[in-house]
Amino acid sequence: MKVAFFDTKSYDTPAFEKLGKEKNITFKFYETKLNEDTTALAKGCEAVCVFVNDTVNAAVIDRLSALGVKTLALRCAGYNNVDIQYAKDKLRVVSVPAYSPYAVAEHAMALLLTSIRRVHKAYIRTRDHNFSLNGLTGFDLHGKTVGVVGTGKIGCIFINICRGFGMNVIAYDKFPAKDSGIEYVELDELFSRSDIISFHCPLTDETYHMIDENSVDKLKKGVVIINTSRGALIDAEALLEGIKARKIGAACLDVYEEEADVFFQDFSGHIIADDTLARLISMPNVIVTSHQAFLTEEALANIAETTVNNILACHNGEDCPNELHI
Ligand code: NAI
Repeated sequence: MKVAFFDTKSYDTPAFEKLGKEKNITFKFYETKLNEDTTALAKGCEAVCVFVNDTVNAAVIDRLSALGVKTLALRCAGYNNVDIQYAKDKLRVVSVPAYSPYAVAEHAMALLLTSIRRVHKAYIRTRDHNFSLNGLTGFDLHGKTVGVVGTGKIGCIFINICRGFGMNVIAYDKFPAKDSGIEYVELDELFSRSDIISFHCPLTDETYHMIDENSVDKLKKGVVIINTSRGALIDAEALLEGIKARKIGAACLDVYEEEADVFFQDFSGHIIADDTLARLISMPNVIVTSHQAFLTEEALANIAETTVNNILACHNGEDCPNELHI
């Protein structure tokens, strides 16, 4: 069986090549993303494998289907880039719902600690033999209130990590977990009470721009915002204005609304065209990582194993527990 693998990065290939050999699957690795112009690369393949920034809209689905592709295998949890409804009866769509929720929750905490203890500044300073402490004052997490939006797999692990630090946790979820011992509040209350807010919900029509001009007004002054979920949960312009107005104290971003054309690529020798991203990165209280929260050895191994099992289940006409239905 042949599988067209789009948006390939060097860290993807070892685990997929190894499993492919074992299971008799030939992966055709393409660096390009899947979109309307690149679907032809899937010719002769039974399945395509995509990541977070590939485009799987109605036109792409039609073209893949016409080429005889039967399965769309997402090697990620989020599927906001796929028109699931349109794919019904055309392609079987499978995903990797959990590969290491610990990886993402731990990265969220890594960003928070780096930001509030100014580790990113201290690292650069000491490399230049500058041992001054001026401007490096942080604050204790103990006793602070963290608001967690989305209490699924990742959100719950992040909550436990925060409790380990002695923080007070409040949360908002459209579907609160019963008997979880979590204090659920309305979103506005979470915005007004939280010293730190961390997003762990999917991107949907309802969660699009949860942080916008209006919600920035409701935030506690000096709040630290962490987003390891999906960029478009936050209106980047509103975030920038909130930081410039000193309302938002810091932002830790592993995802960015317009990341598709920038993240995962080396632009170090180029001029970045996105002024908002460039301005955000220039702020001393903003940390940006390039959608790397998932990137641990454990997660990569789990992603490859689940994706291959998903593809094989579809190939064999079996039920797949990770199939997405609308
Ligand atoms: P999950 O499905 O276990 O939990 C999501 C939670 O969000 C659920 O409790 C759900 O009820 C809640 N939710 C749904 N709609 C909501 C709404 N309108 N308002 C508030 N809450 C809502 O998902 P999991 O595994 O915890 O992942 C969360 C998100 O993290 C994913 O959707 C994905 O976008 C992101 N992610 C980011 C990664 C990265 O590398 N940065 C890697 C993996 C996931």
